[in-house]
Amino acid sequence: MIAYDKEKGIFQLDTDHTTYLMGLSADGFLGHIYYGKRLLHPAGTASLHLHEVPSPAVLSREKMTFLNTFPFEYPTGGAGDLRQACLTVTDEEGNNACELTFDRAQIVDGKPALEGLPASFGEAQDVSTLKITLKDHVLDLSVTLLYSVFPREDVITRSVLVTNEAGQERTLTRVLSACLDMDNDPEGTSLLTLDGAWARERHIEVRKIGHGRTDAASVAGESSHQENPFVGILKGDASQDHGEVYGLTFVYSGNFLGSCELSQYDTLRVVMGIHPDGFAWTLKSGETFTAPEVVMTYSDAGLTEMTHHFHDFFRAHLIRSRYLHEDRPVLINNWEGTYFDFDRDRLLLLAKEAKANGIEMFVMDDGWFGVRNDDDRSLGDWYVNETKLPGGIKALSEAIHDIGMKFGIWIEPEMISPDSDLYRAHPDYAMQIPGRIPALARDQLVLDLTRKEVRDAVMSQIEASFKGAQIDYVKWDMNRQLSGIGSALYGDGRQGEILHRYVLGLYEMQQRLLDDFPDLLFENCSSGGARFDAGMLYYSPQIWTSDDTDAIERLRIQEGTALVYPLSTMGAHVSRCPNEQVGRNTPFETRANVALAGTFGYELDLSRHVTPEEKALIPEQVKRYHKYHHLIAEGDYYRLVSWNDRTPYDAWECTAKDGSEALVTLVQVLGRPNTHSHAIRLKGLDPSATYRLEEAVGATGREYAREQSIWTRENRIEPRCGELKKEYFGDELMNIGILVPDLGDGQSRLYHFVKE
Ligand code: DGJ
Repeated sequence: MIAYDKEKGIFQLDTDHTTYLMGLSADGFLGHIYYGKRLLHPAGTASLHLHEVPSPAVLSREKMTFLNTFPFEYPTGGAGDLRQACLTVTDEEGNNACELTFDRAQIVDGKPALEGLPASFGEAQDVSTLKITLKDHVLDLSVTLLYSVFPREDVITRSVLVTNEAGQERTLTRVLSACLDMDNDPEGTSLLTLDGAWARERHIEVRKIGHGRTDAASVAGESSHQENPFVGILKGDASQDHGEVYGLTFVYSGNFLGSCELSQYDTLRVVMGIHPDGFAWTLKSGETFTAPEVVMTYSDAGLTEMTHHFHDFFRAHLIRSRYLHEDRPVLINNWEGTYFDFDRDRLLLLAKEAKANGIEMFVMDDGWFGVRNDDDRSLGDWYVNETKLPGGIKALSEAIHDIGMKFGIWIEPEMISPDSDLYRAHPDYAMQIPGRIPALARDQLVLDLTRKEVRDAVMSQIEASFKGAQIDYVKWDMNRQLSGIGSALYGDGRQGEILHRYVLGLYEMQQRLLDDFPDLLFENCSSGGARFDAGMLYYSPQIWTSDDTDAIERLRIQEGTALVYPLSTMGAHVSRCPNEQVGRNTPFETRANVALAGTFGYELDLSRHVTPEEKALIPEQVKRYHKYHHLIAEGDYYRLVSWNDRTPYDAWECTAKDGSEALVTLVQVLGRPNTHSHAIRLKGLDPSATYRLEEAVGATGREYAREQSIWTRENRIEPRCGELKKEYFGDELMNIGILVPDLGDGQSRLYHFVKE
């Protein structure tokens, strides 16, 4: 619900459990009053601190003090606020001051789309939107702040429209999308970020926010392996299930900044938006710039509740694919099975073997086009390599369908190899700075997606190769970060626009693919998980989480990713051992149990990389994915024990929303000698109900009780602990828990509880 009290100058936005308040000073500056637990009574403007630092209308001699302390809803640079700005604007003489005051407000049902950008959506019964327009009367600039309120999911989304109403051009050098200007918590505040690297994406890191600025950011042209466009703000000692937490996520796939600034007066300003480094956008007279969306949520019950808000929200209001609520076909991808060394016969052998073991879709990865027999060439040449694949994609897709499997294919449309026909014909299609030797990465350059003719050339070539083929799934990859780029189209001094225009071009291409193939199951990917962001989820219901498929490393990666993004979005595969990335051996069952927390598939050669005993487990694992998919994809996800917290084991739970069943996964990272059993306490159940342990799957797939054993002095294996009980009360499971033994290195268990 949104209310505007004109007399008091207060805007109140209520979700089911939160309230967001803004207020106007006497001279029309818009300030942030409160964001937190839902208020029962209307509040005033006290926390705008106007009694301490009056606004210029009351005390003009201290205008700068006012500007530098007022909790601005949308701070601007150059006029007196020395803290971090959301908006900086340069006029035709190079001056860069901007000062925004209130002009008008409007409340509408539903939510307007954001032109050219991914954004959340909803009907009038799901969401309403407040539009507050502020103006700078010297620059003739109008700034409309959009707040869309989703009561059920306790989410408020933000974005900004900046319109140049002057006769001359203006240059926007910073347009962030959201700001939260709050008082710091007396106990201090921490910033939670998802940091990493290739093969180690999205590890959770928490640090205390000190004075000055603390950031999460990417200037890589993509959301990146290194940081994720998400910030968690934890007040005091907030933790998993207690305390106040704010989460901000950016619905965008390029450069971003999420920054916290603790000021001299211990006020905390949190901002999020497109990273201003290198950004400069020329706004001609009458033009509007649209800043991408930020999704905000608040929880007074710790991180778990924040996660549930995000998962529910993304599932209901961001992911458009019809596959969101469907069981995905269990796939086998040939990348780690063959790399570039394949032809039609080899692929068909792999597919037949997979089909015989219950796998449902075959995906052909990199290497099917041009002369791409290694990663040094051919990106941009999207015509099929007939030596490898006689008859093309059409013939191969038909042969795969004849086997009884669905067919999927890999593409990397944003890139160009210097050794490619496309580059030889159109070197200017690559983004380069004239006179500089470009820095290659994986021997490739980036296509100039800011240019329509380049986007069209690539997409029409891909469409021609796909013509007539039965394609059920596409994996869209992107394998380098953007650096040293320049566009032939923006050589008139507007290169500051190209990183954002690149992202807009990318979104347009992905939409074109979806329009061409409306039934496609679409997966995004970027050198593993370098573009795992909410912007991509608008186009694809799943994203490849990481090139690291080692089950143990995946615990951290998937825990960090699932802090924000639903489990149904995380691409997760069983691959061979020793693991390609870390050389570790883990039981085949553990690899499957960990991959089960995502979209589930295989990525190996079943004729070479698994033992007959392991292969025999695959049909059962495929069935298990379908059996539990509704809990993993639609349920509430709980982190029970985290290996991140230095316990030797890790456990999580997926629980039906109505508490009717729960699936617990336990992975012992390292075995410990001489330990007692330990309790794993469940969450989200009905305390007064009885639950039956419907299935307990051990790492070897055998019955639980038979393999609880230790070596005795006589070197014999003896049973160590008895069978788990078959029945529990909900409150028993949540307060006492189930007692599980130390399992040994890399072993795992699944426990399925069903309400009687
Ligand atoms: C990087 C991806 O993450 C891998 O899964 C694979 O598709 C390769 N690219 C292919 O080049």
